[in-house]
Amino acid sequence: MYYTGIHDTSLQVKNMVTKIGENTPPGYPGEYEAWFTVKDGRRVFIRPIKPADQELLLDLFQRLSDHSIQMRFLGHLPGLSPELLDYLTIVNYVSDFAIVAMVVEKKEDHIIAVCRYHSDSQTNSTELAVAVRDDWQGMGLGKEMVRRLLTIARDNGIRRIEAVVDPSNAAFRKLLNALGSPYTSRPLHGFYRFLMEL
Ligand SMILES: CC(C)(COP(=O)(O)OP(=O)(O)OC[C@H]1O[C@@H](n2cnc3c(N)ncnc32)[C@H](O)[C@@H]1OP(=O)(O)O)[C@@H](O)C(=O)NCCC(=O)NCCS
Repeated sequence: MYYTGIHDTSLQVKNMVTKIGENTPPGYPGEYEAWFTVKDGRRVFIRPIKPADQELLLDLFQRLSDHSIQMRFLGHLPGLSPELLDYLTIVNYVSDFAIVAMVVEKKEDHIIAVCRYHSDSQTNSTELAVAVRDDWQGMGLGKEMVRRLLTIARDNGIRRIEAVVDPSNAAFRKLLNALGSPYTSRPLHGFYRFLMEL
């Protein structure tokens, strides 16, 4: 039995759609698995992140340009430590959530985009971040990942979400404009803080 109910027998579907109980942590919300077609017609599979995604996430990080790493992490990051990989892949699917976009390239699974939120109980704030592999940017994927994550956040009772962004990041601002949801933005310690009410 598959979560999505897609009965496609292609290798891609067999590889990607999660079977119940297969490699999933407790509480894995399979209802958020879905296919998405990017602007040039290629299909990608979007699903919640799993602890087993560490290698694939590292692969994504290693393929991001320095500029994308700078925009995503607001600074230079030489690599992802084991602790950071744990932090990025082990989520509780409520106050911490991440979705990944997957494709098969040369018969291997790859994560080509990730979008997450993290709620901080001390500051009572939730922060969103997104990264799309450079060769997949401009295909509508970043917008779709953010759109889906905002829906998930809303489903999980989050009412306000923010993103702290480099002031030169025109792509992220365009993405938010393209989403059509209202937001406010203001300078914050040399960055920009975008705030959305959900
Ligand atoms: C920001 C980012 C996520 C956008 O993802 P993407 O998949 O390239 O964006 P999309 O293709 O969904 O585009 C969304 C909108 O933004 C516009 N856009 C995307 N990249 C753009 C760019 N470099 N310059 C201008 N506009 C851009 C698109 O035209 C689109 O608008 P439209 O729907 O009206 O055509 C991606 O550039 C990225 O990963 N950057 C590095 C990490 C980062 O900056 N993260 C954000 C802070 S956490």
